[in-house]
Amino acid sequence: MRIEGFSLTENEIIEKLKATQKERRFNHTLGVMGEAVRLAPLFGVDEEKARRAALLHDCAKNLDEASGEDFYIICKRYGVTLDDCAKSEKALVHAYLGAAVAYKDFGIDDNEILEAIYYHTTGRANMTPLEKLIYIADMTEPGRTIEQAAEIRRLVEFNIDEALIYAIGCSIKHVIRKGTLIHPDSVHALNYLISHRRDKS
Ligand SMILES: [Fe+2]
Ligand SMILES: [Fe+2]
Repeated sequence: MRIEGFSLTENEIIEKLKATQKERRFNHTLGVMGEAVRLAPLFGVDEEKARRAALLHDCAKNLDEASGEDFYIICKRYGVTLDDCAKSEKALVHAYLGAAVAYKDFGIDDNEILEAIYYHTTGRANMTPLEKLIYIADMTEPGRTIEQAAEIRRLVEFNIDEALIYAIGCSIKHVIRKGTLIHPDSVHALNYLISHRRDKS
């Protein structure tokens, strides 16, 4: 089915992704889509937007290996500018590049979807419901078997923001353990959620 505002059908997107993503990544993508669709009503998110954002959230993940080109060269070609943190942390690049690839190669012109892709690794202050949904689904899809995934799955059923506070905290701790740079947007995301939790009490 072709949906107004989307230039590719879901099947066309899936076929295109299959051609570039490794099997493990592709299975993760399908897992995130299933989880995003399951959780969409809880987040008050349109199911179609959830499907597209989830399907495309990692669309740039293997582009460097698939094309044999350096990630940073591909970014230049797509007109993606990177901040200092992303310039030194390659793990962040696929999210920023992913939004540009979703726009240019997959015909997505819905800003909400593009921003959910763009912020899916860092989060940011005052995230939209779709951004929150993709951030959580990325960590709770069935292929994620880490202990923290079970806790996020438990929390999200009764408080989305508590689940996010826990999930972003886990990501930041992981980055600290690796000894790499923490992106300021992750800190802003966490601070925003915690200060708004305080406002509610
Ligand atoms: Fe990702
Ligand atoms: Fe992912």
